[in-house]
Amino acid sequence: MTTRSHASAIDACAEGDINLSSWRKQRMEQLSDPETRWLLAEDARLFMHQSLSTPCMDVVEKASGTMLQCLSGARLLDFHGNNVHQAGHAHPAIVQAVKLQLDTLTFCPRRFTNRVAIDLARRLVRVAPEPLSKVLLAPGGSEAISMALRLARLVTGRYKTVSFWDSFHGATLDAIAVGGERLFRDGSEPLLPGALHIPPPVVPPSHRESPAVEAMRDPDHLDYLMRREGGIGALIAEPFRYSFAMPPPRDYWAQVQRICRKHGALLIFDEMPVCLGRTGHWFACEGIGVTPDILVIGKGLGGGLFPLSAILADPALDVVGHTALGHFTHEKSPIGSAAALALIQVIEDEQLLLQARDKGQRLLDALTDLGQRHTGIGMVSGIGLQLAVELVNTTGRPDTRRADRVLDHCLQNGLSFKIAGGNILSLAPPLNITDTELTSATRILDQALRETNITGEK
Ligand SMILES: Cc1ncc(COP(=O)(O)O)c(C=O)c1O
Repeated sequence: MTTRSHASAIDACAEGDINLSSWRKQRMEQLSDPETRWLLAEDARLFMHQSLSTPCMDVVEKASGTMLQCLSGARLLDFHGNNVHQAGHAHPAIVQAVKLQLDTLTFCPRRFTNRVAIDLARRLVRVAPEPLSKVLLAPGGSEAISMALRLARLVTGRYKTVSFWDSFHGATLDAIAVGGERLFRDGSEPLLPGALHIPPPVVPPSHRESPAVEAMRDPDHLDYLMRREGGIGALIAEPFRYSFAMPPPRDYWAQVQRICRKHGALLIFDEMPVCLGRTGHWFACEGIGVTPDILVIGKGLGGGLFPLSAILADPALDVVGHTALGHFTHEKSPIGSAAALALIQVIEDEQLLLQARDKGQRLLDALTDLGQRHTGIGMVSGIGLQLAVELVNTTGRPDTRRADRVLDHCLQNGLSFKIAGGNILSLAPPLNITDTELTSATRILDQALRETNITGEK
């Protein structure tokens, strides 16, 4: 059998950091706890190896609030959390709601419905912008993307889509077709036909391309593409690339929406990582003032402890009752719904939207200050409690080597986060993080930047 390795050809992935750097190998070799070493070896022996997930670096034993507690003894502030932790890990009210649900109804077979799933749908519709009032639940984000794409095909009768290069919408075959990451696409072709891509509206300065490519970020290019190509059923995108945390240009989405309508295409927003509070709004689209035809949410929807996603759609699209759109076994999960309802209650009770705005501004100020005191920091940006720090080398290009070293220092000193695009420190703490934790995280980052040097011109 022949096997091919594509990951090695790709040095930077917008979706996350690749676990292949030499210091990660070194750290693993230095781990002294025998049980940790054994479990990591078992993990490598038993699970299929895949980029971005293996090799694993430590074993998480416990997670609560902002903290991850590892078997090796490491305690880490979790600014990564795969963006499921709006309310922090194992929020007591969410855990309690799930425990209560376990005592009543744990699964709902198809053909029946259940009270808690209906309550969740009602609650989601209440917080969603109008006219999004039709809900479909699914067990995971990629499945919800799949449902949204199929709904768009069925409603418009068109199969072609437009999405952004470097985007990520999930790891299933349809999701990677609209996604724009080579790491996921290479070797998996042929992908869905008609999945067209354009450059996203903004990228960090170190990722800018030639003037010809930069010009294609303008909505006029989209208008041209839709007109010349014809038959586009939907444009699917994150309202902003969450890991870069950069607001799109003013009016970008309003213009895109007008163009979509002009050409008969639906607008689908993928808000998986930023829905339910992270931007300081229930949904990021409220912050940019554009309501899509279909809004896809997930990740933290399950309260950080249950896989759950959903599409929220304009009721005018509720016309495909003749076909099965999301025929998933765990569709109206009572447990997932109980977790989601409890999360929504926590967001309201703890005023997490306000906290995301206030603490996001404080963290942005602190990071901006770091940017002024250290060399090699390009852009610092943030939307609510989703923030990003760009590391650039002496020529202004991505300083991927230093980003890797900074992450290493931070992990050793108690802070975990993700690196996007090779050089963007992507920071997403729980929305109820304490001021003391925010200060510790800033101090750890400050120290890591002091102890690592900007990479010289190559
Ligand atoms: C923007 C975006 N869309 C979709 C997904 C896919 O969600 P899931 O991993 O639950 O399938 C992700 C996951 O990281 C994501 O970041």
